[in-house]
Amino acid sequence: MKNLKERILELKKEKNAVILAHYYQESDIQDVADYVGDSLGLSQEAMKVEADIILFAGVHFMAETAKILNPTKKVILPDLKAGCSLAESCPPEDFKKFTEAHPDHIVITYVNCSAEVKALTDIVVTSSNAVKIVNSIPKDKPIIFAPDKNLGKYVMEQTGREMLLWDGACVVHEAFSLDKLIALYKQNPDAQIIAHPESETHILKTANYIGSTAGMINYVKTNPSNKFIVTTEAGILHKMKQEVPDKILIPAPSNEDNTCACSECGYMKMNTLQKVYNCLLHESPEIFVPDTIMKKALIPIERMLELS
Ligand code: 13P
Ligand code: SF4
Repeated sequence: MKNLKERILELKKEKNAVILAHYYQESDIQDVADYVGDSLGLSQEAMKVEADIILFAGVHFMAETAKILNPTKKVILPDLKAGCSLAESCPPEDFKKFTEAHPDHIVITYVNCSAEVKALTDIVVTSSNAVKIVNSIPKDKPIIFAPDKNLGKYVMEQTGREMLLWDGACVVHEAFSLDKLIALYKQNPDAQIIAHPESETHILKTANYIGSTAGMINYVKTNPSNKFIVTTEAGILHKMKQEVPDKILIPAPSNEDNTCACSECGYMKMNTLQKVYNCLLHESPEIFVPDTIMKKALIPIERMLELS
């Protein structure tokens, strides 16, 4: 009797499908994926796919972005309810009013938002290119940055630019506890703290390195240190352990009093191996984006890819 992973690999061939997975997906899903990456890498990869079907093992806004970049492909997502607190914090109607109230501003949105919000945007960014892209905007141009206020504050600090911030946050990165992090560091003073810029300023101040998930993986590979406290979603540890099997990786503690000592994204974890199998088998749930939104949302995503 074949196991679920073997059946998924077989189905993938049969259906001419590829699986793209984010680093926050559970380990078993990452193991059956053709490509595992951060938001930017996944967008770049989605654009190149020649297979008929893209199974996106990630959250809804990522699958939507893949559909916008490669609209002739069937894009499927194991669980349509796999959302994101940042995307949910920014309803398109409210965001439209906000941009209309500031018509002289350039609108920059973090990729973690809906296709409708992207359609109201001038340039999309991810955590890997936000600083570079904001630096490329002429100094006299005022900027709206949405929906992540924490990433926004970090970009403001790095670029010296004032920006009008939307009040959104990632529930996972906001849950890291400074007190617990300091206590953990005291027990491991030889460790480097690495953090994702969706984290709050007080957490980022402790970090030796701040970057996207791909940036963090690259840092642990290239930095000579042997021990790291990892301040992002715990799914990243799977890839990190594969890349640096001899180094010590400690997940940063969250405020939540849960059984897991680390932070997990409940949205990302809605996808399971069984749902990946069912999704491939039935080619459903499928992602649909209305044509008008698709055309408008493509422009700021393409601008981002050009500037990356
Ligand atoms: P990156 O993959 O760009 O690092 O973003 C992390 C994240 O929270 C995705 O939802
Ligand atoms: Fe959204 Fe945060 Fe989950 Fe990423 S980790 S999908 S930003 S809620």
